Amino acid sequence: MMRSFKNRDIVSIRSFSPEELVYVIETAKMIKEDRLKKQAAYAHVLEGETIGIAFFEPSTRTRLSFVCAAQALGAHALSFSSTEGTSLLKGESFRHTLQMLSGYQCSLLVVRDSRDGAAQYAADVLDIPVVNGGDGKHEHPTQTMLDLLTIRELFGRLDHLTIGFAGDLKYGRTVRSLQAALQHFPGISFRYISPPQLKPPAEELAALERAHIPYKVSENYESTLPDIDILYVTRIQEERFPDKQEYEKVARSLQLTPDLLLSYAKPSMRILHPLPINSLKFPEIHPAVDDVLVPGTREKYARYIEQAANGLSIRMALLCLLAGKLGTEIREPYELPNYEKKTTLEPVNVTETKQEANRVLGYIENGTVIDHLQPDALFKVIDLLALPRDKLVILGKNFESKKALHGKKGVLKIVDYSPTPNQLNKIAVLSPYATVSYIKNGQVVEKGRVMLPLRIENIMECSNPNCISRTEQKEYAPSVFYTLDTVQRIFQCHYCDTTISEDAVRLR
Ligand code: NCD
Repeated sequence: MMRSFKNRDIVSIRSFSPEELVYVIETAKMIKEDRLKKQAAYAHVLEGETIGIAFFEPSTRTRLSFVCAAQALGAHALSFSSTEGTSLLKGESFRHTLQMLSGYQCSLLVVRDSRDGAAQYAADVLDIPVVNGGDGKHEHPTQTMLDLLTIRELFGRLDHLTIGFAGDLKYGRTVRSLQAALQHFPGISFRYISPPQLKPPAEELAALERAHIPYKVSENYESTLPDIDILYVTRIQEERFPDKQEYEKVARSLQLTPDLLLSYAKPSMRILHPLPINSLKFPEIHPAVDDVLVPGTREKYARYIEQAANGLSIRMALLCLLAGKLGTEIREPYELPNYEKKTTLEPVNVTETKQEANRVLGYIENGTVIDHLQPDALFKVIDLLALPRDKLVILGKNFESKKALHGKKGVLKIVDYSPTPNQLNKIAVLSPYATVSYIKNGQVVEKGRVMLPLRIENIMECSNPNCISRTEQKEYAPSVFYTLDTVQRIFQCHYCDTTISEDAVRLR
């Protein structure tokens, strides 16, 4: 599937099909060859345009390659590289800073931030395309594109490869994005090498199993290097550890040395690294590895310097594609999925038999009956309604019910009270398919079933403390979740992709 790149946000690598990824790297290759021949065919493509580059976290390569790419295309780059010297130190929000920058007629904004989901939030609040230059431990999609270009140049293909990811597989965003992209290609398998504390998150390994992608988890190079075609080493992300003592425990756990390389790796194996390598503390790649040659050849195993250089061509390609200057032959527009914003209360006809709602558990004159609740949800629903003390509550927990999901249901009757639409939405999250009957003068006048919408706004709190939508991040981003599975109740955060299953749901 090939959709237009014009005006598209690049927030997650997951929104790109394999054909689109190949198209981006081929475009980059074309630009790279043009520049090598010094033809400069692209030197004026973005003349007069301003590219905003707002980096709230340190960066050398990503930021400078975007600045360099903008300039090589004739555009002007408006860039800052840390919160130092900006009004963020005076407490200005991320949102205001970005909106203000975009007001300087930027045609596109590249953002980097330490919070997961910051790029999605930026894309939501701005009407110009947003490119994710790295958001917390979440994603780094343009790094992945340059990684793919490098792999294609080295191996001539993106399929039938065994990729070893080493280092920080828990907090590293580059691995997360690259792994998501490579999964599309046939014959891919993964090897993970890390101390046990930095293993890939369980939910990612479970996703690989569902997709039948072979992988092995290991704690050392000796057992894994012989299988690997590409070894992708990463830095232990000291700044993302909530507890610095935990960092100290793993800081010196893994190092690729010339000895390991020459004893265990295939001669055809190549080493990549998104850089920087932490040479101050304990280099994850021993400095001597840089110059180790494959025996009997003049070829080096280590290819991270040429990998980083590919950042320029990839970012030039992306700037041209998003501006609609290249890729004009692609006709299919890129459209975001349109989630119907329907009410969560699906009406049920009130017939004579429906009147029985007011017969179970005693009669009420006016109020609401909430029936077919999942028994575990009953007390949670009572808590969320925060009923005034004088509202008489009648409840029953484990009633037999053929219609209920697990054969048992809870019932709740509230006098002189009806839930607000927001409370109904919350009930839908806690107990989808529960029924709500409104009683007037002893009669059921309206009845409906609460249904989980596909997009849930401002109801749940993300379980990831580093997510931009969390209250303590002080961005006041609305919480947004997508329902992945209505029966099992599995939800996914719009910003950081964290999935939450029913027992982990926390209401806002
Ligand atoms: C990486 C990043 O920022 O995620 N660097 C980069 O962009 N090339 C890797 C890292 O910081 O370890």
